[in-house]
Amino acid sequence: MVVELRHIKDIGHVASYIPELRNVDPKKFGIHLTTIDNQNYSLGDSNDKFSIQSISKVLTLALAFELEDEFLWERVGVEPSGTPFNSLVQLEYEKGIPRNPFINAGALVLCDILVSRLQHPKQEFIEFTRKVSGNPTIDYCPRVAESEKLTGYTNAALINLMKAFGNIHNDIETVLDLYFHICSIEMTCKELAQGFLFLAANGVHPLTHERVVNVSKSKRINAIMQLCGFYDEAGEFSFKVGLPGKSGVGGGIIAIYPGHYSIAVWSPKLNSKGNSYKGMKILEFLTTRTKLSIF
Ligand code: DON
Repeated sequence: MVVELRHIKDIGHVASYIPELRNVDPKKFGIHLTTIDNQNYSLGDSNDKFSIQSISKVLTLALAFELEDEFLWERVGVEPSGTPFNSLVQLEYEKGIPRNPFINAGALVLCDILVSRLQHPKQEFIEFTRKVSGNPTIDYCPRVAESEKLTGYTNAALINLMKAFGNIHNDIETVLDLYFHICSIEMTCKELAQGFLFLAANGVHPLTHERVVNVSKSKRINAIMQLCGFYDEAGEFSFKVGLPGKSGVGGGIIAIYPGHYSIAVWSPKLNSKGNSYKGMKILEFLTTRTKLSIF
């Protein structure tokens, strides 16, 4: 299988709109798979930290859903957007209610909720991430957060538009600062695969035995990953890979096979939709060859 993986092309471009991400070695490549009974398989640079970017939106959703419960869905939808992750278009005619929690606008609303509900949002969010993943070393990368802040004009436009529609309740700078920090979290493929295992096990982390979310919430988070985790490429990912998944512009992807395993892949070159080109190909190859997908 390793030999066959070498033949998968590695095309596309490293994200450049966040200046710090330009410095990543485009040839990096890692995979880690963890089963719910803690069998681990890895390949390549699976122990290198990288910027998880929008993969973090899954954890933001888990925490905001815990805090807000069903009221969350009054401020953000659960439908695929069919638009790029940072699109402004729908947001205007849908009156400031983002289609789902995984496009940037949706995650900004979740961050607004965290700012309203938590006393020390940045500190409490990173503590939540460490607890969920059973790993006390996970942290923000202030350099990446600062770099995105300096160039984050589109996110500023999204949040201002939502503020005008009354769907952002807190100070814009505070919410953006939390959002940029959450996107800057660095993890390895191994840490990601192990950290997100609760979604493969009905909301309880099988390694730490910590209940992160209840069974219903775990099902719903997976459902939203299935439908919205890849923006305007969600259909393609579902069609080719057949697992709930979430990508980030750092080139990482997390995918969940509920009841079985979670897998993280990292390959920084992105396709035109902002998703890891090789990462998607590898996951397609894996679920096709093993016949292990939800379909
Ligand atoms: O807000 C942004 O544009 C980035 N911090 C995250 C975008 C992202 O990862 C989209 N995923 N493929």
